Amino acid sequence: MIYFDNSATTKPLEEVVQTYLKVSTNYFGNPSSLHTLGMDSQILIEKARKQIAELLKIKPKEIIFTSGGTEGNNLAIKGTAQARRNRGKHLITTMVEHASSYEVFQSLEKEGFEVTYLNVNKEGHISVDELIEAIRQDTILISVIHVNNETGAIQPIEEISRRLVDYPHVRFHVDHVQGVHKVPLHFNDVRIDFCTMSAHKFHGLKGNGLLYVREGNRLSSLLHGGEQEFKLRAGTENVAGIVAMAKAFRLGSEHSRQGNQHLETLKTTFIAGIKKIDKVVIHTPVKGSAPHIVNFSIGHMKPEVLIQSLSKVGVYVSTKSACSSKLNEPSRILLAQGIDDKKASSAIRVSFSYLNTEDEVKRVLNDLETMIPELLQVQG
Ligand SMILES: Cc1ncc(COP(=O)(O)O)c(C=O)c1O
Repeated sequence: MIYFDNSATTKPLEEVVQTYLKVSTNYFGNPSSLHTLGMDSQILIEKARKQIAELLKIKPKEIIFTSGGTEGNNLAIKGTAQARRNRGKHLITTMVEHASSYEVFQSLEKEGFEVTYLNVNKEGHISVDELIEAIRQDTILISVIHVNNETGAIQPIEEISRRLVDYPHVRFHVDHVQGVHKVPLHFNDVRIDFCTMSAHKFHGLKGNGLLYVREGNRLSSLLHGGEQEFKLRAGTENVAGIVAMAKAFRLGSEHSRQGNQHLETLKTTFIAGIKKIDKVVIHTPVKGSAPHIVNFSIGHMKPEVLIQSLSKVGVYVSTKSACSSKLNEPSRILLAQGIDDKKASSAIRVSFSYLNTEDEVKRVLNDLETMIPELLQVQG
């Protein structure tokens, strides 16, 4: 099997699964229970929070454990809109957000908020000047995706954050789900108020994530009930998943520097090979893109055809994002880049992990060199 769909999800590391098994077997007490079994679970959660905080160089109390990226984005965006609605009703985001942010803004519009959606250029990048020009007195939140999940385009988060120094009334949320370990953010150098991460994108397990909430920022909770997670996320904690996420985070951080050089090699080799094939157009920008994603289309070929042919030989790639890949519509992200309807409907995404090898890339390129001309002939 060759798995090149790591933007959709990554394979959990063996050590991470073992940690999950061990904790869920031996530490099954409810962290809110007052007996020692409960207290032991609570201690493990706080240890995990401290470990991740140290690696991110933030404070443990700035971490809210969530169920993943979708919840983190919802909590940051809806939670800020609700907590600060008396301050203003204007929000700024981009046309190229993941659905878990974009759809939140669409629903907030129905509740009376006004949203500015920033356009991108043909490389998929927003203009920081345009973002600054869009800020008004009643702007309460700006939310920007760091690394685009379909194309890998990186938005200039550090620059935005530097420019926001002059606008202390505006909160800044970053969807960092695709960037973790691959395009790191340095929290000490930038002012980010909220930042979303998801464990299953860095070889952790599905159903776990975290939201960074900078000290002093207010949020309304989406869930009401218990007082877990500093009253921001009611519900019994997924103790084993949280501890397993801390493990995945540590292992990912250790591999980050070397792993990223390796990812760059895989990406460069793949792009060099795929470019030689007739009718291939690459949508991932050459500059300002993450090391693990390549998005391309082949003429107007239906992507399902190639995806099925590859999966028959044990190679797994995808169309657009996993959440929307079943919708038979052009990609909103590629349309925003000015790519025509047909090409935006036929894109294929290949996404690597540091566990992939150059031999795998070469083998897939060989498969593509044979398959693509055959499929193009069949499709006429
Ligand atoms: C950029 C981005 N944000 C948010 C999410 C949602 O994360 P989760 O699957 O953990 O809900 C994803 C998942 O693909 C993503 O790629």
